[in-house]
Amino acid sequence: MRLDKYIGKSTQLTTAQVLEVIARGEVSVNGVLIDEPAFQVHENNVVYWLDTYLERRPFRYIMLNKPPNMVCSNIDEHYPCVFNLLDVSHQHELHIAGRLDADTTGLVLITDDGSWSYRLTHPDNHCPKVYRVSLSKPITNEMIKRLKVGISLQGKCKPTLPAQIEVVTSNEVLLTITEGKFHQVKRMFAAVGNRVNALHREAIGEINLDVQEGQWRYI
Ligand code: URA
Repeated sequence: MRLDKYIGKSTQLTTAQVLEVIARGEVSVNGVLIDEPAFQVHENNVVYWLDTYLERRPFRYIMLNKPPNMVCSNIDEHYPCVFNLLDVSHQHELHIAGRLDADTTGLVLITDDGSWSYRLTHPDNHCPKVYRVSLSKPITNEMIKRLKVGISLQGKCKPTLPAQIEVVTSNEVLLTITEGKFHQVKRMFAAVGNRVNALHREAIGEINLDVQEGQWRYI
């Protein structure tokens, strides 16, 4: 991690103040004064600011149950952002691991640990995401077969990876996919001639949603 980031995550200093203390030569790594903000700090390095030993705040992992009509992005003119539901410090350090559409509800994971979110979201890692899908038409065997094999979505050369489907009722299914393409679930059902009326994410990997709508907790 960059030295400026490390100091930001281990003190209450603002970004500008962090750069000032580094430029003034007040920071040392393993006993050597470092005045380069981009200097890479590794796991076992010992970092001091003047006489203060700096220990990085531990990573944070949060699950949130997203209500409808909220967005997973900071910039939107119409809807509030899910971050408005969180009352935590240093919110600017957090990011969402796998966004949901404004009208989709359910599990959103929020963290400041980039490797963790990469593991959950990168398609090569095949992390399963479970969605409860309400459909406008009854699901047919033919639709299930096509979804299980993989669907060619418009504008994509490669078909979607095989999905798992559990039928709950004729108009409700649990769909498990390991990718997160733009509007993927809605587009998959549109491609087989159906339409998603409501979409709710219940699980990502081993993490099952267990807080009420609009609530969050540390994992
Ligand atoms: N697929 C969608 O179509 N929308 C979501 O919000 C998530 C997955």
